[in-house]
Amino acid sequence: MVYAARLLRNVAFQSNYMRIHVESGRQTAVRRRTGGVRRRPGAVRRQCSAEASVTEHTILGTLRGMVESSVRERFPDYDKPIDVAECANTSLGDFQSSSAMQIFSALAKAGETSFRSPRDVADEIVAGISEREMFDSITIAGPGFINFRLSDNYIRSELFRETKSAELGPTIKRHVLVDFSSPNIAKEMHVGHLRSTIIGDTLCNVFEFCGYTTTRVNHVGDWGTQFGMLIQFMKENGISPDSSVSDLQACYKQAKQKFDVDDDFKAKSKDMVVKLQSYDPETAHMWRQICSASRAEFQTIYDRLKIRIVEKGESFYNDMIPSVLDELQSKRLIVEDAGALCIFTESDDTPVICRKSDGGFNYASTDLAAVRHRIMSEKADKIIYVTDQGQHKHFKAIFKTANEAGWGDAQVALEHVGFGVVLDEAEERCFKFLEEKGTNLTTDEIKHASKVLGVSSVKYADLQNNRLTNYTFSFDRMLDLKGNTAMYLQYSHARVATILQKSSFAGRPDQFSISHEEERLLAIQIIKFQDALLTTLQDLAPSKLCEYLYTLCSTFNNFYAECKVIGGDNEESRIYLCERTLYTMKLTFSLLGIEPLERL
Ligand code: ARG
Repeated sequence: MVYAARLLRNVAFQSNYMRIHVESGRQTAVRRRTGGVRRRPGAVRRQCSAEASVTEHTILGTLRGMVESSVRERFPDYDKPIDVAECANTSLGDFQSSSAMQIFSALAKAGETSFRSPRDVADEIVAGISEREMFDSITIAGPGFINFRLSDNYIRSELFRETKSAELGPTIKRHVLVDFSSPNIAKEMHVGHLRSTIIGDTLCNVFEFCGYTTTRVNHVGDWGTQFGMLIQFMKENGISPDSSVSDLQACYKQAKQKFDVDDDFKAKSKDMVVKLQSYDPETAHMWRQICSASRAEFQTIYDRLKIRIVEKGESFYNDMIPSVLDELQSKRLIVEDAGALCIFTESDDTPVICRKSDGGFNYASTDLAAVRHRIMSEKADKIIYVTDQGQHKHFKAIFKTANEAGWGDAQVALEHVGFGVVLDEAEERCFKFLEEKGTNLTTDEIKHASKVLGVSSVKYADLQNNRLTNYTFSFDRMLDLKGNTAMYLQYSHARVATILQKSSFAGRPDQFSISHEEERLLAIQIIKFQDALLTTLQDLAPSKLCEYLYTLCSTFNNFYAECKVIGGDNEESRIYLCERTLYTMKLTFSLLGIEPLERL
């Protein structure tokens, strides 16, 4: 039974993705407002957390605050969360609240009969909203929905405000450490690592943009008993440690086979582990060479995807392990079971082994030392792990132990998909597609565009998926010009950029006015940018940002179909709207780590 737990990290990757979030006590003390906080009219000051202070910059947060203060004043006994959401049918309103119905049924349950229907409750809530300049109208519909339509003045002022202040600005300096990518030395990076790389990088971008300090850690698997086996095998067969990762991986496979059947080899491999762990110069040298060969190959992938990450592999924590395990043992958080040191999470779970019965350290011992170091020495307020679902139980055990030890906080996210050669094929297909479709681009420009399109398609397909769902990358879907694809986004971006290139003058904010419903909807979508950032960080889901960008593009395309820009009515105002669109598109592209194309 115990042995099964040891195999945990090798179990087949499950297709879905999960996370665990444990807030540390220390965080509360670290949280600090550092000024620069803008507040919309009526924004309710919330608890002091970084996410909440970003709420004050969002439309939804402001609106919720207004409804909330009216409800708290008029229905002081009602303490449930207030519902405000985007309105699916924009002819009814831009935002909608269904709280009146919920409050009415709570009143009815409590035997309170002074309101005859949810609509009466809605009336009461509306009456309690004093600041009205944000709205064109507040109406009550159906059984008691409250619909809010934003006023042109409000939209204008938000649109201008964003022109001046491009960023959310630092709200609270908090340090987020994101452990992502983390492939293993002498093994090829698999799709799970690639997906982790892409999601981790985007999360870091968004955190940084919102004023967090981030540390991007590549927790590469560069330590462990497998290196003893590998080095022994390479020495016996005269294989250079300076080999490609795929050769190293093949060696590893053969070494493993030999290890399982050949007792002499097994014994020698174990001696080799001891040598490595005592930093025997020759063995350590070979190990370093193996590491740098793998590292160079990983780097080519990071370069291609334009990923920034700093390596701090498993070996970094090796010397810290014994004292960490001692500490945990003395706190009775890890216990001996059949000779191994184990973490027990739930009674029916198999324990997670953190020191093998032969005394060797493993993946879990390293992660215990790492999480302690990250909290205590690197002073991370939040730690996010982006890995595959198969490691759920492992992290659950690590976090539980870290919390009980009084260290703090961590967060996990996991996944798996088919990748690697996908990049090359994506590029090739995009090249063919552009050639056949016919463009004004030169061959060199097509080459460049297909390179960018290939990478963006693969990245976007990954980011756009809800973390909880599995996905299969489809080349056919990638080239879909109408769907939620990078191709569609790139075409939309290039369209806006081209319009602005063609325009002979710049937009004039002072001429900005709303004369068409599509203009209004586009402006609203632009000012919802910060709402999108907030949900992305709250859910740790880049898919939310993708959804935002996709809607921005389609709203723009609707606008463009209805409203002539160059030479049309209202030209300077529309050009200004295009400039704001382009700016917001570029910003979102850059957060997603995707290079936008100016021409297509
Ligand atoms: N190297 C591990 C793997 O390939 C991922 C490491 C994730 N990070 C961590 N701190 N355990 O599965």
